[in-house]
Amino acid sequence: EETAKSGYDHYMLKEIHEQPRALRKCLRGRVDELTGAVDVEALDGLNPSSVQFVACGTSYHAALHGASALREAGVHAQAFLASEYATAPAPVTDDTLVVGITQSGETADTLSALREARKRGVETLAMTNVVGSTAARECDRALFIRAGPEIGVAATKTFSSQVVAANLLSASLAPQSDAREVVEALRDLPGQVQEVLDSSRAERVAEQFLDSEGYFFVGRGYHHPVALEGALKLKEITYKHAEGFPAGELKHGPLALVTEETPVFALVTGNGTEATKTVGNVKEVEARDAPVVTVTDGVSDVERYADAVLEIPETHPRVAPVLANVQLQLVAYHVAKKLGRSIDKPRNLAKSVTVE
Ligand code: G6P
Repeated sequence: EETAKSGYDHYMLKEIHEQPRALRKCLRGRVDELTGAVDVEALDGLNPSSVQFVACGTSYHAALHGASALREAGVHAQAFLASEYATAPAPVTDDTLVVGITQSGETADTLSALREARKRGVETLAMTNVVGSTAARECDRALFIRAGPEIGVAATKTFSSQVVAANLLSASLAPQSDAREVVEALRDLPGQVQEVLDSSRAERVAEQFLDSEGYFFVGRGYHHPVALEGALKLKEITYKHAEGFPAGELKHGPLALVTEETPVFALVTGNGTEATKTVGNVKEVEARDAPVVTVTDGVSDVERYADAVLEIPETHPRVAPVLANVQLQLVAYHVAKKLGRSIDKPRNLAKSVTVE
């Protein structure tokens, strides 16, 4: 087992560090170097009028990203928690595509939602890491994320690969005005993830806020799923209370819980409208004496209001969340390590949950 960890203390850390390689593999042969066109065999001939994603846990956060990317490209798209999909089924038409995002391809809730979709007569696609998994076998099509085996119960590299695969899906299904920029950003992403891994100050931030009562994560737009994912990762492996919100929702309730004992992690990139609004939310938090940790590319002035800064390189807004998330993975890891938690096998959790 020690050899399998390649010198890392935990599989989770090893898998966090495997992300540049995993992302290169996810992209290999799928993007035309010259034109930037996406060519993925599993998606050939697909032209759905609407897309419904079904997924659980971390994969659901990738689904939220995928749905936003498709909507931005003009395709009707929604993300559903797989365990809720059948409760009040969203309408489908003959050319609806249901995409199950599942690292393992074995999650019972997701398989059940995909079976429900098949019963309704629509085409299904499994976006999965495991060739030969139940999801890959049962769906009409399979898009493999090629992240390599993930042993740590808390998903890390597979999330990044799912987000990249979701972007390939959206680029392949709908013409996008910024297609070239996105493809170029995806191509630069593995190197930028490496930069984050090499320079991250997450361990220091973990030390600084180790004894906090609770942790909040906020982000707008494409950073919203990462706010949720940052909180989930922290909960899973540190057992600390953490919640993620869309930044704009903070003032509609959660702000009541914000005190000097609750650091707020704010994801802010670029200096567009969304960034400006999130900086506004950060000011509200700062006024209540909560420590602010910002994950930022340094383009806005959010650092002025922050007690700690986790830097990421500048990139396309649709790709930035992957970089921001790497910083949050490292924060969760270092908090858990300093607290002596069972990082690779957290209490009560399983890598793949095969009951509904
Ligand atoms: C379990 C794991 C989570 C994972 C979820 C979905 O709950 O503990 O880390 O995100 O299942 O797994 P899947 O294999 O479907 O992506």
